[in-house]
Amino acid sequence: MKLIGPFKQIVTLANLPLRGKLADEQLQIIENGGIVVKDGYVEKVASYESLYKQYPDVETEAVEGTQICLPAFTDCHTHICFGGNRANDFAMRNAGKTYLEIAESGGGIWSSVQHTRAASEDELIQTTLERVNFLISLGITTIEIKSGYGLDVENELKMLRVIKKVQTMTDATLIPTCLAAHLKPRDFEGSNAEYLDFIVNSILPRVKEEGLAKRVDIFIEKSAFQPEESRGFLRKVNELGFEITVHADQFTPGSSRIAVEVGAKSADHLEATAEEDIAFLANSETVAVALPGASLGLGEKFTPARKILDANGILAIASDWNPGSAPMGNLITQASVLATFQKLSTAEVLAGMTFRSAFALGLEDRGRLEKGKKADFVTFKTDNFHNVLYRQGSLRAESVFINGKNVSNG
Ligand code: NIG
Ligand code: FE
Repeated sequence: MKLIGPFKQIVTLANLPLRGKLADEQLQIIENGGIVVKDGYVEKVASYESLYKQYPDVETEAVEGTQICLPAFTDCHTHICFGGNRANDFAMRNAGKTYLEIAESGGGIWSSVQHTRAASEDELIQTTLERVNFLISLGITTIEIKSGYGLDVENELKMLRVIKKVQTMTDATLIPTCLAAHLKPRDFEGSNAEYLDFIVNSILPRVKEEGLAKRVDIFIEKSAFQPEESRGFLRKVNELGFEITVHADQFTPGSSRIAVEVGAKSADHLEATAEEDIAFLANSETVAVALPGASLGLGEKFTPARKILDANGILAIASDWNPGSAPMGNLITQASVLATFQKLSTAEVLAGMTFRSAFALGLEDRGRLEKGKKADFVTFKTDNFHNVLYRQGSLRAESVFINGKNVSNG
């Protein structure tokens, strides 16, 4: 057992509802607080002084200077296992080239597929681990990672094996997702529907056998997979026992409805969600995941996060870190910007990066600092928790704790 503190403020996020809007007044803030950790889990959060009295013999870990403490963050949507980069796409987009023109001149998702296929497992392990470590340095200790740049049996399995290997090299929790349905690869001879069948018959059974992922994603969009074929695919995926998440309504509306109908854990993107579909999604158990990093990367509008929360939806915020549409990877900056444009309270943003985003991954054991939760938390050298978002990511995390252990160098 260990007592960590004192912190000027601990924002516990205890007792907040899973869905709907939140006011900052609802936040539980413990002034001059401490956290007692036992076997990697939170035993008690209270004023430091009272804990010191209650546990007189406990080992203590002192905090230097004035710091505040938040539950560590969960990034529930990333594509951080990839080869190469797409800096050329960025330049072409800004020069006014269209998606199609960029794809035709060798850019787009297909270019990342070629680089990822060409990369060795060791290279991918190295670069993925570097990106995981960057996310940890921001205070993110649970990270979803998608495949989706392999798009054949060998390379989809390679990506998922890389993620499995990286999991053995980090204290962060990695949640792998099979996104073989990102795009029909150019070298697949057959229709979209045939490629989706190929995933069901030839990729997912191997993923299951090797225990490489329990979740499956699909990109439903005009340029990727069409609504009807996707619906059929997701039903089969369900039957195979995988959980579902969907890249939905990024450019054209309609697919968030499919996500809800098939019982997806989350529908992600939603930049183009139609007004009536917001209510449909918000009334479901499917988490709406805003990806402001993709809006910033592409110059597209933001997910209607305000409307989703007002309609009582479950809103999470994730980075979508990928080489194409969202190359930044700084979830804190992105969430701060989303808050400004969508008028979100600090409580709504923090909830969206903690227990609500963990729920999108089926994890209810983290994201709040209260008894029984995983002792993952992040500290910042400041006297007021509002500064974390106010500084838009430029206030760097001071220390990051995983299972009650300080894993940061600082
Ligand atoms: O979430 N929209 C589809 N997939 C990714 C982009 C991937 C890429 O461009 O490489 C996204 O934005
Ligand atoms: Fe994505």
